[in-house]
Amino acid sequence: MRIDIITVLPGLLEGPFSHSILKRAEDKGLAEVRLHDLRKYGIGKQRNVDDYAFGGGAGMVMMIEPIINCMTDLKSQRQYDEVIYMTPDGDSFNQSMANKLSLKKNLIILCGHYKGVDERVREHLITREISIGDFVLSGGELAAAVVTDAIIRLLPGVLNDETSALTDSFQDGLLAPPVYTRPADFDGWKVPEVLLSGHAANIESWRFEQSVRRTRERRPDLIAGGISAEKGDNIEER
Ligand code: ADE
Repeated sequence: MRIDIITVLPGLLEGPFSHSILKRAEDKGLAEVRLHDLRKYGIGKQRNVDDYAFGGGAGMVMMIEPIINCMTDLKSQRQYDEVIYMTPDGDSFNQSMANKLSLKKNLIILCGHYKGVDERVREHLITREISIGDFVLSGGELAAAVVTDAIIRLLPGVLNDETSALTDSFQDGLLAPPVYTRPADFDGWKVPEVLLSGHAANIESWRFEQSVRRTRERRPDLIAGGISAEKGDNIEER
């Protein structure tokens, strides 16, 4: 899989992608993440990428031309399945979206900045808009890093333990159960007996019960027909 990220701040993303799982995925040839400095496609001597908003108001708007030039350059080299724009007013990112995107071959991710991009970019070039939560970051870069990480760790072979992504929280619609490691007894803080029993079926059913319990307590909204403990909202229609 290949992900091309278009940004005015490539330096902000060099760190996350040269470490840990993303680095390992690249080293194994399973994923390629490339950063593209939008300023290289900027206009005039100053390589401008933004301009004042028509109609006035505070804040600059990212111009169409540098973005289209960068995307045309990329699209001349390969076909893209999706052109994603990171924005707080996009669709909420979740595990199901990460799963779907992990099946794609080539993605472009455009990071928004300033007041955002000229709306015509969104109308004509973008195929999917993603928000990572109801808060505003100073740019789309960190959001793009979050989405890229969530996608790449799902690619077969990226995680050492093949089953490990399958048992993540959200993967089956539930939060993950608690986990423990040695020592079995730390000054009286004991690991649940069942986990030490070696009885695979009992361990599996304990984990499932714990998952359901944890989800009911912390995220009742995830359980269809559940009652939200906090608001008392019936969330059946969700
Ligand atoms: N850019 C700024 N804030 C964002 C958010 N919450 N999600 C995605 N992109 C963003």
